[in-house]
Amino acid sequence: MSTAVTTPVVARTRADLFAQLAPKRAAGEVVLVPTMGALHEGHASLVRLARDRAGADGAVVVSVFVNPLQFGPDEDLDRYPRTFDADLELCGREGADVVFAPTVEEMYPGGVPRDGDTAAVTVEPGPLADELEGRTRPGHFRGVLTVVAKLFGLVRPDVAVFGEKDYQQLVLIRQMVADLCISGSHGALEIVGGPTHREDDGLARSSRNRYLDGDQRRQAATLSRVLHAALHEAPYGLDAALDAARGELRAADGVDLDYLEIRSPDLAPLPDPVPPGTPARALIAARVGTTRLIDNLALTIGSDETRH
Ligand code: PAF
Repeated sequence: MSTAVTTPVVARTRADLFAQLAPKRAAGEVVLVPTMGALHEGHASLVRLARDRAGADGAVVVSVFVNPLQFGPDEDLDRYPRTFDADLELCGREGADVVFAPTVEEMYPGGVPRDGDTAAVTVEPGPLADELEGRTRPGHFRGVLTVVAKLFGLVRPDVAVFGEKDYQQLVLIRQMVADLCISGSHGALEIVGGPTHREDDGLARSSRNRYLDGDQRRQAATLSRVLHAALHEAPYGLDAALDAARGELRAADGVDLDYLEIRSPDLAPLPDPVPPGTPARALIAARVGTTRLIDNLALTIGSDETRH
């Protein structure tokens, strides 16, 4: 694909978006990259993936919307970084055609539903939403799936690209698309997971990394080290992988663990015993200072394939 810099059209309203997309939809596939802005190199790689996927005839839409419904009352909605001019520049550099940046009123014309608001229709994510991230962030995935369903309804993408860093989100979105039979402009809607982009020391790129001060930035790399320790020992079995990961955690300072788990790729529990060669996902969440970080890594339990 060419990487010529383009200036994406900014659509602020549904009407703008529909007007922009109508001719593009006729010409090829529509590929959506949903984001909350504060874009970094991780997002850039997702937009590149989308551009490759859309080809010359298709259209790449990046949505930039900080979704209030997925933030808990004590979370960082107000201080979540908003960097629209830089976001637009990155989208242009990576070849996006349209940036959809609606207001809260445009996305929630009836107001943002509050807990116990029985008048509002929202997406019920099912039991996986109460595990892992959901244990400390009740209601988070209801907010994510509700806004993603809205974006799918507005953009009607054929392909949507999400980062694997938010792995539980990716699994739940795939499940929503399957269970609610959500389709795209030309048929099935395909959900593509983009690989996690990492700093040189392994820290997964995240919009929240900018909250970390010098010491915390160093401590934050622990999450990736823990996962890589698990990956390294996974050929010797689940217990070996978990022991190695916990050992790496004990050796670290400044990291307040929330969870460290190894599950099946669909986030169901692993079978017991685990047959050799079982694909799995190691997931970690921890606080460094006041910043909550997450990360995950694919591994294979009981096989030499992952050893390096
Ligand atoms: O991953 C994110 O940035 C958000 O959760 C998403 C998918 C854009 C929904 O607000």
